[in-house]
Amino acid sequence: MITQHLHNNENDINTAGRILSGGGLVAIPTETVYGLAADALNGAAVADIFAAKGRPMDNPLIVHIAAFEDINRFSLVREIPDAAYTLAKAFWPGPLTIIMKKGKAIPDEVSAGLDTVAIRFPSHPVAQAVIRAAETPLAAPSANLSGSPSPTTAEHVMNDMDGRIDAVLDGGECAVGLESTVITLAADVPRVLRPGGVTVEQLREVLGEVEVDDAVLHQLAQGQTAASPGMKYKHYAPKANVILLKCSDDAYIDYVNKNAGTGVAALCCDEDIPLLRGVKTISLGRRLDYETQAHRLFDSLRRVDGYGGVLTVFSRLPSTDGVGLAVYNRLIRAAGFEVIDLDES
Ligand code: TXA
Ligand code: MG
Repeated sequence: MITQHLHNNENDINTAGRILSGGGLVAIPTETVYGLAADALNGAAVADIFAAKGRPMDNPLIVHIAAFEDINRFSLVREIPDAAYTLAKAFWPGPLTIIMKKGKAIPDEVSAGLDTVAIRFPSHPVAQAVIRAAETPLAAPSANLSGSPSPTTAEHVMNDMDGRIDAVLDGGECAVGLESTVITLAADVPRVLRPGGVTVEQLREVLGEVEVDDAVLHQLAQGQTAASPGMKYKHYAPKANVILLKCSDDAYIDYVNKNAGTGVAALCCDEDIPLLRGVKTISLGRRLDYETQAHRLFDSLRRVDGYGGVLTVFSRLPSTDGVGLAVYNRLIRAAGFEVIDLDES
């Protein structure tokens, strides 16, 4: 299959819409990361997404809409809870995914057999235009091979998906850089299953009580079931081994310098660069600038392998404040939950 490279213009957006309504796969830009889209109401097209990504079939997909009214228009959910109106008013369109009881139009391929469905109204104008052109909601996971860092440019998408999908629509770099916050309203108390651009603090401001699922910060114990199936996998990982250090800024510099050598890289902050010796450095941004760190994380993880010869990457355990929680959540998965606690030793 030859993957067409489409651009951000009316003609190409209509082409993308036609491919999608005909049952094909198109990678599209959103404000978070690129999504690999198919017609969410066409089970066979959705099954092709899993094949193209090598994604486990038990991991459900997010359904993307271009207007709040699409939820009822396409019978996507059984009923819209009050909290969903509150969330939509505060954060849609934007990087928030809301899980509700699924409606009759949702094929099993989308919900992976669960009785719920995840809905997101993206703010990216190109994503909205493609959904409107396709005249159907779009199921879209991140457009990477399963396990790899999510793509934040069309080039990342092509590195993983060239020859596996019908087209990629190039809309430039994604602004947020990390996937949407996922919150479920199917439990008694609203619960964050995956942190993202909309922070837990912001959600509590509008909803009051909001829980954070165990799997956000910790590896699930053997046999524990994941509320969000995607959270149980090692994910976002470069080929090099990512090791997280729990320690002060000074201890991080010391440790990395002591373990420096060929094949060692530091995924670090701007302030660290002049202090590190004998390692490749990739900066995520300034120490307290969590937004920039989020924006650069996946591109940085992809660059690690691009350097060639990097075997070990040392990063520090991020703060869990604000968007830091989302960076923390992705990094511990990239590290396969391998954390060295220097504070304890
Ligand atoms: O920002 C985003 O959310 C991007 C863009 C493309 O919209 N999409 C994305 O999709 O990150 P994906 O498939 O990579 O991640 C979806 C996450 C997974 O962890 C999945 O397990 C969870 O949402 N999820 C989807 N439907 C669910 C459901 N019904 N119940 C629980 N978790 C669900
Ligand atoms: Mg993903």
